[in-house]
Amino acid sequence: MAITLKNPSEIEKMRIVGAATARVLEMISPHIVPGVTTDELDQIMNDYIEKVENAKSADLGYRGYPKATCISVNEVVCHGIPNNHKLHQGDIVNIDVTVLKDGYHGDSSRMYIVGNHTSPRNHALCKCAQESMYAAIRTIHPGSNLTEIGAAIQKIADKAGFSIVRDYCGHGIGAGFHEEPQVLHYKNNYNLVLEAGMCFTIEPMINAGTFKVKVNKKDGWTVTTQDKQPSAQYEHTLLVLPDGVEVLTLRSDEDFPRIITH
Ligand code: MF3
Ligand code: CO
Ligand code: CO
Repeated sequence: MAITLKNPSEIEKMRIVGAATARVLEMISPHIVPGVTTDELDQIMNDYIEKVENAKSADLGYRGYPKATCISVNEVVCHGIPNNHKLHQGDIVNIDVTVLKDGYHGDSSRMYIVGNHTSPRNHALCKCAQESMYAAIRTIHPGSNLTEIGAAIQKIADKAGFSIVRDYCGHGIGAGFHEEPQVLHYKNNYNLVLEAGMCFTIEPMINAGTFKVKVNKKDGWTVTTQDKQPSAQYEHTLLVLPDGVEVLTLRSDEDFPRIITH
């Protein structure tokens, strides 16, 4: 499938679903406390998506995925399946939500610190993931190249002494959950000139130790670091504007502009 350019009515739908996705991550924040299970969090989010946002989780049933959200704790890199495991003080947790509304998708994730206190290294890891995503977003405008995204992330991860997961990437998004192009988060030569109307995600996974990951053979989903050291990820859905970029899934807790013009 080719890269789709969104028309004005599609852009409006992407804005609406993007805002709904952001609200899920805002709503769940006060529930992330020691002792809560990831299943409980998943159920709160699924109820909210269906009852308050009048939307659906795009994860549920996607290639057989059993839950509404992905909740990835500590050494889990991504695609953590909510279960009866309780969160503990100092855990770092990624919640990744994809909402489907009126035929269009919004995809976003952020890190949460359980009990609001963790190790300085965990803090640095989460900050690196978020800052590298922001630096990548700042490169985007019509005429910029997709390669600038990976280069920006690589620069920040290298400086912090962390590694970048190579097996998972960002993606085009719209009527499809995962559309073209693939968005690589490390230095690469996948040249693509960006155009107004493109929508895609940037979702760097940054590891404290090795970049190498493994998929749980029993459940077929849960991705962990090979060395069991922690991993952090942030994700936004972006729209290329005629003169810059818009963060469709921006939340109120972020100190970052919704629109950057160049
Ligand atoms: N939200 C993930 C992404 O960023 C994909 C999750 S697919 C699932 O692309 F099936 F694991 F939910
Ligand atoms: Co995504
Ligand atoms: Co996602």
